[in-house]
Amino acid sequence: MAIVTTQRLLLRDWTDEPADLARLFDIYRRPVIARWLGAASGLPMTDPAQAVERLTMWRKRHADHGDRYGTWAIEVRDTGVAVGTAMLKPLPGRDEQVLTDDIEVGWHLHPDAWGNGYATEAARALVDREFTTGTLLIHAVVDPGNTASKAVACRLGMTHIGRRSDWYGGEDLDTFVLRRAA
Ligand SMILES: CC(C)(COP(=O)(O)OP(=O)(O)OC[C@H]1O[C@@H](n2cnc3c(N)ncnc32)[C@H](O)[C@@H]1OP(=O)(O)O)[C@@H](O)C(=O)NCCC(=O)NCCS
Repeated sequence: MAIVTTQRLLLRDWTDEPADLARLFDIYRRPVIARWLGAASGLPMTDPAQAVERLTMWRKRHADHGDRYGTWAIEVRDTGVAVGTAMLKPLPGRDEQVLTDDIEVGWHLHPDAWGNGYATEAARALVDREFTTGTLLIHAVVDPGNTASKAVACRLGMTHIGRRSDWYGGEDLDTFVLRRAA
């Protein structure tokens, strides 16, 4: 079931279907993806079975979130191909365990889908939807070297507020915020 639909994309849960699991593995086995997701991420994957484990972890993480927060597949409507992951969720604090009240939007695309605007389109739909719930501020936190991801934040109209270490185990991350329009 689609959580959000845009002109070109739909966001939906990742599933146990073989095509989804294969795609998950093919995204998260890649150092070019994993290098930006933090030392604690347990990535890159080295075994396809880890795709199932990741799915289980995401389901557990979002068990109490309904459809509001999640880690979803980005599917191209024309092709049915899952090109990556978009997420909207509370940021984990310095200890990585307790969630904060700060909401994060994030994006990971398979390299074969880079350069199409998919990350920006998916994230825009998620933040627009979240703003309708009354949330006033949404964050994106990015490794300082991750130019491509910072560009997504900028395309979304987010403002860079400097480096912060409030989340993800105290890692120093470039932080962007988007405020709901008045
Ligand atoms: C970060 C990441 C998602 C960015 O991917 P991306 O494809 O550059 O970003 P978008 O999907 O928003 O696409 C934007 C690009 O598509 C181009 N584009 C082409 N057609 C487009 C269209 N119809 N609409 C919008 N943009 C389009 C844009 O011009 C832009 O290209 P440019 O960077 O050469 O200017 C990708 O590099 C990635 O997955 N990296 C690894 C994981 C990662 O770092 N995640 C973030 C952790 S914080």
